[in-house]
Amino acid sequence: MLRAQFPGLNVQVHGKPLVYLDNAATAQRPQVVLDAMNDYYLHHNANIHRGVHSLSESATDLYEQARVSMAQLINAPSEKDLIFVRGCTEGVNLVAQTFVRSRIKAGDEILISHLEHHSNIVPWQILCEQTGAVLKVIPMNQQGELVLDDLDQLINPKTKFMSVVHVSNSLGTVNPIKQLVQAAHDKGVPVLVDGAQATPHLKVDVQDLDCDFYTVSGHKMYGPTGTGVVYGKTEHLEAMPPYHGGGEMISKVTFESTVYNAVPAKFEAGTPNIAGGIGLGAAAEFMLSIGLEKIIARDQQLRVYAEQALAQVDGLRIIGNAADKAPVFSFVIDGVHAHDIGTIIDHYGVAVRTGHHCTMPVFQFYGLAGTCRASLAFYNTEQEVDVLVESLLKAKAMFA
Ligand code: ALA
Repeated sequence: MLRAQFPGLNVQVHGKPLVYLDNAATAQRPQVVLDAMNDYYLHHNANIHRGVHSLSESATDLYEQARVSMAQLINAPSEKDLIFVRGCTEGVNLVAQTFVRSRIKAGDEILISHLEHHSNIVPWQILCEQTGAVLKVIPMNQQGELVLDDLDQLINPKTKFMSVVHVSNSLGTVNPIKQLVQAAHDKGVPVLVDGAQATPHLKVDVQDLDCDFYTVSGHKMYGPTGTGVVYGKTEHLEAMPPYHGGGEMISKVTFESTVYNAVPAKFEAGTPNIAGGIGLGAAAEFMLSIGLEKIIARDQQLRVYAEQALAQVDGLRIIGNAADKAPVFSFVIDGVHAHDIGTIIDHYGVAVRTGHHCTMPVFQFYGLAGTCRASLAFYNTEQEVDVLVESLLKAKAMFA
């Protein structure tokens, strides 16, 4: 059984079996990911891309194989189009400060959406402060979906870049990325897609989406924390300036000047998170071996079950009811503060996130300080959803 491959699920909290429903914050990792990292430290521990000795070569092979596996997971045309980063946050910052910074000036516009995580808002605000560019926002509706009626005006001759989230971390909304990319490309505007919450739940195909950049967060897709990749179209990666300067991103250095290394090394200064990268590759292989179709089918089963189960709790309101949705449930309960709910249900072993989920503008839209968020993964069970509902009923009773 797949669930048995996740040792982190097999713990007790307050004497109760853990019911882990905080997967959007970070998922659990399967044993194969832990084993891959351990194997590196135990049998291949050396720096990569630098040594002629056997250990360095085998470590390099493992790390580069991970890049191949990640390319396969998101159907990138080549593994050379993938830059290893610490996660989506670093990926967005990298693209903002290299590709976009090099082509933007005062008065130009950068377009994001109202559903963005702070990591896809703040890097653009920093860039706007640096350059005098202006941030524009695609609005949302009560369902938690993007309103595209004015897209034609929002993407105008001043628009130089669009950066949008694939799946909302706080509401679960799946955005119509192909349509957005097409609309932007029709006007010559390149697009970054923040895929942090998409890779765990969707079959991502960057060639089919035709996006210019796509960011992936390792720890959301059963890989190690502090890992991820940015995919970029080859011509963009070739053309854009480097991000961090240092070792490995160069081919020649003198005091007068530096010649940069080829892509993707040009963007990978310093010794990377080698074990993490190898673990990330193992996570990609794990997902591919299960099959995305199977993961998606299970996700949707759980989503429907949880929707019906949560409807049994009187006074519970789900925030965000998009037609296309991942198994992520933001909710409030009349008369009970989200933090109180989270704290009480923790005593029944149930782990959920409470607050604004790093998407303050989303909750400003709803006039809420935050919500409770139950985010499910394919290894969750219907019984766990029942425990969530029972614990919510108990929390409600305490405040009645
Ligand atoms: N972005 C993560 C979340 O949604 C941390 O919880």
